[in-house]
Amino acid sequence: MQDEYFPDVVGSDGMDFGKAVCIITGASKGFGRCLAKEIALLLKPGSVFVLVARSGDKLRDLQAELAATRAGKAGLITRCVVADLGVKDDVERVIQEIREAASDTDIDQLLLIHNAGSLGDISRYAKSFTDLHEVNAYLSFNVSSALSLTAGVLEVFSRRQGLRRCVVNVSSLCALKPFPSWVLYCTGKAARDMMFRVLAEEEPNIRVLSYAPGPLDTDMQVEARTSSADAGLKKSFSVMHSQGGLLTCEESCSKLLKVLLKDEYPSGTHLDFYDL
Ligand SMILES: NC(=O)c1ccc[n+]([C@@H]2O[C@H](COP(=O)([O-])OP(=O)(O)OC[C@H]3O[C@@H](n4cnc5c(N)ncnc54)[C@H](OP(=O)(O)O)[C@@H]3O)[C@@H](O)[C@H]2O)c1
Repeated sequence: MQDEYFPDVVGSDGMDFGKAVCIITGASKGFGRCLAKEIALLLKPGSVFVLVARSGDKLRDLQAELAATRAGKAGLITRCVVADLGVKDDVERVIQEIREAASDTDIDQLLLIHNAGSLGDISRYAKSFTDLHEVNAYLSFNVSSALSLTAGVLEVFSRRQGLRRCVVNVSSLCALKPFPSWVLYCTGKAARDMMFRVLAEEEPNIRVLSYAPGPLDTDMQVEARTSSADAGLKKSFSVMHSQGGLLTCEESCSKLLKVLLKDEYPSGTHLDFYDL
């Protein structure tokens, strides 16, 4: 069966991720869901997916869809972890699930994709964020959990001969450029980029990439064009939408997977869809 999600550029030259454990946060919808479907086609039998999000029903739908694909029929194992990554116990549960997934497989590749993210309250300006708990809750999910999860996963998959380890941070132009009324999002994305640059410096044997996927036609974009407090920004997102300027998740995913498979990027770098 020819899978409908199979991108024309990826995998066509015979490259794949081998037998892997692939962890994707925010896999229930949008870019994360698309990544899961396309990566599934690039995994060797016996590979394991660990898919994380809060929406268990959507994760299980995806699990069923994957099971029906060529990869699923060839023995891809998918584990769903329903977790709120802003909550300590949930992050620990994700790591525990990954530990269990790791115990019954001997793999060539670890692929950890930090895709889950949120905009925070973009209907207000920086000067209104007086509530420390609100700011901490945002950073806990969007920044702190990415570090704790990475550290937990690297503990499970420590360095060994023949194991390639790759960590992808789904970033944004907002990591580099200030967007008015997006103080939490810009702060979080900038912090995450630096976090993964430090990781790349410290761990030369781990491949680390921050990838800005471009403006994607997802629920996050709906929120951007309806809720941004800054009128100019709100308008530019609406115009982008009405004039067909948004990318499909498949387009952006395809570029990311090409970069990962080619494996020539400097570890720790920030790459944007439009740079490639
Ligand atoms: N869309 C864009 O234009 C754009 C542009 C640049 C960068 N990005 C980045 O690309 C990534 C994916 O964005 P998207 O557009 O696909 O967003 P989306 O459609 O809003 O999906 C976000 C994903 O994150 C999960 N998530 C949200 N809160 C969570 C939590 N507390 N715990 C665990 N999972 C949580 C959601 O699942 P549940 O709700 O089920 O938990 C969902 O699967 C994000 O990192 C985003 O910042 C997006």
